[in-house]
Amino acid sequence: MTRILGIETSCDETAAAVIEKSGNDTKILSNVVLSQIADHAAFGGVVPEIAARAHVEALDGVVKAALDEAGLSLQHIDAIAATAGPGLIGGLIVGLTTAKAIAAASGKTLIPVNHLEGHALTARLTDGIDFPYLLLLVSGGHTQIVHVEGVGRYQRWASTIDDALGEAFDKTAKLLGLPYPGGPSVEMAAADGDPARFAFPRPLKGESRPDFSFSGLKAAVRREATALAPLSEKDIADICASFQQAVTETLTDRVARSLDRFQETHPDLEIPALVVAGGVAANQAIRAALDTLCEKAGFRLIAPPLRLCGDNAAMIAWAGLERLEAGLEEEETLGFAPRPRWPLDQASAPLFGAGKRGAKA
Ligand code: KG4
Ligand code: ZN
Repeated sequence: MTRILGIETSCDETAAAVIEKSGNDTKILSNVVLSQIADHAAFGGVVPEIAARAHVEALDGVVKAALDEAGLSLQHIDAIAATAGPGLIGGLIVGLTTAKAIAAASGKTLIPVNHLEGHALTARLTDGIDFPYLLLLVSGGHTQIVHVEGVGRYQRWASTIDDALGEAFDKTAKLLGLPYPGGPSVEMAAADGDPARFAFPRPLKGESRPDFSFSGLKAAVRREATALAPLSEKDIADICASFQQAVTETLTDRVARSLDRFQETHPDLEIPALVVAGGVAANQAIRAALDTLCEKAGFRLIAPPLRLCGDNAAMIAWAGLERLEAGLEEEETLGFAPRPRWPLDQASAPLFGAGKRGAKA
């Protein structure tokens, strides 16, 4: 039996979880996620300094809560897996240093985990799927398609060349005066809107390169909103619905390219799988469109439950366990430095240079 404590602090969730594997059976014994949404709401986005401080204040209590909920103490834990990147440096330092301290004090193994690997492997925890599969990761910081061949074996096939999809939702919401986080606000407003009222662009739609782009769409929303100001509730609903429609169309067009490539790469797979992960996967319109796309292309769409789709520590614990079982754990991890940028696929260079916005890893 193996038990792993996971710690996640790369953005605005302070999270800790315990998972237990015995034979082929894995259980999530606890999965505590403390969201900092309220701390950042007044600023319309995550403020790194506030996030780092909030992690410092909350993490010890969150780790204790995860152990208590699992009914365990540290002596029952075999290893500690902590997010070491990519993400906001302040939060990464807090989480990784805490994990190092716990590991050093208790004599347990420390496994630094790539946050994206956590998202990439979650579907194996929730649905037990086999390699290879295709991953669509859509969150506030990332928008990418990854060919997942095995633990530690990832190829990024597509990525955003500017904003992440969740970021486009968040910025659109901010522009329209809707509350943070923007994704759920925009989706809710869109429910009463007319998706055909505004002909927003569908960036890169129809192009042969597989990548994503959302900044032109955001600029078009800004132009329309400025021209119409002051906005009525109906205007806001129509803008949100038209934005969501444009996003959905361009997203599915882009994803379709990679589904084709996956089928060409793995012609023998009977029912290939597309796994969707990240907070934006909560969007029902996007989910429905991906469902239709997969059905047409002969793929199975796998969407982990929402509490495991957004940021959480169970996925970090699970990635740690997978690394441990694959014999991929690194030595001397107590000296492991946090990595604000850490591409899952070391071979594909980021589409944007370090320090620029866009493709965050
Ligand atoms: O994966 P996540 O919890 O955190 C990271 O960014 O890593 O994703 C958060 C993002 C935010 O940008 C949020 O606005 C977006 O996911 N989001 C949504 C929805 N719920 C959350 N976007 C569109 N529709 C939603 N229902
Ligand atoms: Zn994430």
